Amino acid sequence: MSLLIANIGELFTADPECVVRFDAAIVVDGDRIVWIGLNADAPQADERLDAGGRAVIPGFVDSHAHLVFAGDRHAEFAARMSGEPYTGGGIRTTVAATRMTGDEALRANTARLTEEMLRQGTTTVEIKSGYGLTVEDEARSLRIAEEFTTETTYLGAHTVPAGADADEYTALACGPMLEACAPYAKWADVFCERGAFDGDQARAVLTASANAGLALRVHANQLTAGPGVRLAVELGAASADHCTHLTDADVDALAGGDTVATLLPGAEFSTRSPYPDARRLIEAGATVALATDCNPGSSFTSSMAFCVALAVREMHMTPTEALTAATAGGAEALRRSDIGRIIVGARADLVVLDAPSHVHLAYRPGTPLVKSVVQDGTIVR
Ligand code: NIG
Ligand code: FE
Repeated sequence: MSLLIANIGELFTADPECVVRFDAAIVVDGDRIVWIGLNADAPQADERLDAGGRAVIPGFVDSHAHLVFAGDRHAEFAARMSGEPYTGGGIRTTVAATRMTGDEALRANTARLTEEMLRQGTTTVEIKSGYGLTVEDEARSLRIAEEFTTETTYLGAHTVPAGADADEYTALACGPMLEACAPYAKWADVFCERGAFDGDQARAVLTASANAGLALRVHANQLTAGPGVRLAVELGAASADHCTHLTDADVDALAGGDTVATLLPGAEFSTRSPYPDARRLIEAGATVALATDCNPGSSFTSSMAFCVALAVREMHMTPTEALTAATAGGAEALRRSDIGRIIVGARADLVVLDAPSHVHLAYRPGTPLVKSVVQDGTIVR
C-alpha cells in the first residue's frame, strides 16, 4: 500500500543535509518513506493525502516520559506556584497511589496519555517505570509500558522509598529488581541527585544494568551540579537528561562524548526554576534533544509543541534548532536512525501542521496545530 502526501508548502526534514524544502511531496510505501521531491514531479500512489500547502514535519520523538502512574499532584503544583520549592520528594506520593492501583487502571492512564501525545503529533515515546519501587510494582509498570512502546526504561532507582535504607535499596535495584525488570526494558535510568541516588549508588545501578544488557540514560544535574552528567558520559549513556545545572567540565564532557543532552523545559516551567542553558551546550558542540518529561509531579505536559515553544522563548533556541531537537535530537537520544527525520528509508512518521511553517509551533504557542498524523505509514489522525 503506497501513500502520496502531496502539496506540502514547507517540508521540515530535520536532516542537516537539507533542513527545509518547499513545494514538496512525499511517497510512502508500507511503513517507509520511499520518495521525496517537488510536488510537480510526484508519482501516483494508492492513497493521497493533500497537505493543502501546509507544513509537514517529522513526528515528534519524546525521549523522556514517565507515563505509568496513578493519581495527580495538582495541590503540590498549586503550592509551588505560591512559593514552595520542588525537591523531588513528591515522587513518593505518586508511588503510594500507583501501588494501590490495579493493572487495568494503570494501563488506562498510560493509554490516555499516549493517545493524548499521538493527537499532538508524538509518534515515538519512551516510557519509564519508577513509581512502583518494589520488585513486583516495577516489573508490572514495565510490562504495561511495553504495551505502548518499544522504548521502555527501568527506573527502579527513581527515589529511595519511604522507610528504606539507601544502600540496601540500591542493592535491590542492582539485584532482584533489575533481574525481574530487565526482560521488559530496553533502557535503564537513575535519578542521580542529592536526596535521591549519589554518584556511587547511581554508578552501581547503571553498571549492573549494563551488565544485564540494558542501554543507559541518566536523570542528571536537574536540581544541583552533581556527578550525573559526567557519569553518563563516562558510562557511554545515550542521554543525560535535564542538564539544568552544569559546570564547565560537564559541558566539555557532553561536547566531547556521544551522550545527548536532553533538555526538559516543561520541568523548569512547572517547578518555576531557571531553564537550562541551551546556547552554551549548542555552542560547545553538544547534541541537544527536547522532551516533555511528562509526569504528575515536575512536568505534567504531554505536548512537545509546548516544549518547542519554551525552548525558543525561554532558552533562546531558534525554531529550527528547537524542532530539530524535538525530532532528530530525540531519535539520537534513543539511538534510533529510523525515526526523527524525513529522509528516504526512514520510518514514515509525519505530522501535517495546520500552519504554513514549522515556526508556528513557537509563534502560536498553546494552539492545536496538528492537522494529520501519519505513523508507520498509516494515517492515524
Ligand atoms: O524527571 N526528577 C526525577 N523524576 C521526575 C520527577 C518525578 C516526580 O516529581 O514525580 C523528573 O522531573
Ligand atoms: Fe524525568
